[in-house]
Amino acid sequence: MPLHASSAEYALERYLADPGHLSDVVAADAPHLGDLTGLDVVHLQCHIGTDTVSLARLGGRVTGVDFSPAALAVARDLSARSATPATFVESDVEGADALLGPSFDLVYTSVGAITWLPSIARWAQVVAGLLRPGGRLYLRDAHPMLLTVDETRADGELVITHPYFERAGGQRWSDTATYAGDGEVASPDTIDFPHGLGETVQAVLDAGLQLTRLHEGDTLDWCFAPWMERLDDGTQRWRLPADRRDLVPTEFTLEAVLPG
Ligand SMILES: C[S@@+](CC[C@H](N)C(=O)[O-])C[C@H]1O[C@@H](n2cnc3c(N)ncnc32)[C@H](O)[C@@H]1O
Repeated sequence: MPLHASSAEYALERYLADPGHLSDVVAADAPHLGDLTGLDVVHLQCHIGTDTVSLARLGGRVTGVDFSPAALAVARDLSARSATPATFVESDVEGADALLGPSFDLVYTSVGAITWLPSIARWAQVVAGLLRPGGRLYLRDAHPMLLTVDETRADGELVITHPYFERAGGQRWSDTATYAGDGEVASPDTIDFPHGLGETVQAVLDAGLQLTRLHEGDTLDWCFAPWMERLDDGTQRWRLPADRRDLVPTEFTLEAVLPG
């Protein structure tokens, strides 16, 4: 956590210096999210709160949920020091519906979130259990097809080596590096869980939501592999080299509503 809190990628000082500053993630989503004034928003897997604070700056009354006390401590401190009120709740996503109930107009989750959850079906049930009738879901994350690609090849060839579909037990990794910040993490062993796009869409439909938007994009908010190119617009966004850009999507956005 200290690596992320002090990283150039998360750049916490920008939220203190500029009361209007938004994370690159939420800035990219803002045109679709619209004005959140007066809306109750829950941000699942809020991590150190940069997107939570940004959603509050779009006008939402935002509750961030994460199961990491260390991440939430950074998030609460960021909210207080940047004078951007938000509420932070320590909970496993899987228990968030029981804890918070159907109290929200918007469930927001993005970028490196659902891959940590073993069951996308259970996640979608949680989302439905958090929404008021008429409320909406906004999900943007790495495209599951990109996540099948070998990110370690130096030649940049797109070679499929990782699973696409959800599987019991997930897949194990060991890596001392992290996606934001230099230095080595204290706990290098992780397990993540692929979810195919169809599995995610079907989970949302089975939970009773109606799909309103499904978009596949060609940029991503972190550098998935060394051969990705950073956009030259000053944001934390990367894409495939031009000669490979139309071969595989890098992200998807899914929006859905719970019928009123
Ligand atoms: C890689 S971070 C990315 C989050 C966010 N998009 C960001 O960049 O700030 C993923 C977060 O998910 C949280 N997380 C993972 N599994 C969770 C679970 N089952 N319940 C709640 N939080 C979880 C982690 O603690 C971490 O803060």
